[in-house]
Amino acid sequence: MRRKFIAGNWKMHNGPAATKEFLNKFAAELKASPETGKNIESGAEEIAFFVPAVSLLTAVQESSGMPVIIGAENCHWELKGAFTGETSVPMITEIGATHTLVGHSERRHIFRETDEELNKKMHTAVDGTLIAVLCVGETLEEREAGKAFDVIKRQFGEGLKGFDAATAAEKIIIAYEPVWAIGTGKTASVDDAEEVCRFIRGLAKETFGAETAEKLIILYGGSVKPENTAGIMAQPDIDGVLVGGASLKPEVFIEIVKNAI
Ligand code: 13P
Repeated sequence: MRRKFIAGNWKMHNGPAATKEFLNKFAAELKASPETGKNIESGAEEIAFFVPAVSLLTAVQESSGMPVIIGAENCHWELKGAFTGETSVPMITEIGATHTLVGHSERRHIFRETDEELNKKMHTAVDGTLIAVLCVGETLEEREAGKAFDVIKRQFGEGLKGFDAATAAEKIIIAYEPVWAIGTGKTASVDDAEEVCRFIRGLAKETFGAETAEKLIILYGGSVKPENTAGIMAQPDIDGVLVGGASLKPEVFIEIVKNAI
């Protein structure tokens, strides 16, 4: 059985003070739902927050003793150097964060990150002992032109170039986030989401073999809310959700976690 992975991506929200407030409230929500806590402690489910770089230290400190994972939203592919404004993998691990997102659609589209750069980030992150969540997803234009599967195949293939099967199974998570469903209120239908996630598992099988494909954690992201979580999580190839807007309120995010179980 693959573990469930329920993650929030805070994007450019929550500085240190808001991070502390959020995590204290979330701890209280968890305490009030002992069933949820039991699931997390058994390893059947993981909860993660991907937070802004300036809030990572506070998030790690405030979540100490809580069954939550703290990750970065982005990292650089070089270990150090003249890269003004960037955050390195050693800086992220020094703080105590264990995961990072790579290639979120906002990084790909607003900041023009390329597949080649993202592949370098994936390797630096994984070599630096982080678990890396590679985000893939097509734009509306690509979907309407019938190119969704080609785009996913390219992003998957280029992003994971040079990884072996064992590393892919243990250190990499894939998040399918159709760009047209992010922050728009338009969720992909569960059938569409499952179809692409099944396709991604098929790509993993072709690339790394059946055993790795079976182990690979695949998430869906794009307008996930408490009301649509259970339907998404019921899909056989979707193991978790990556939540933007609805992860910013502890009392809403805990409902997503509960509905995901
Ligand atoms: P929304 O949940 O706000 O649509 O954002 C999804 C997302 O981009 C998560 O990484």
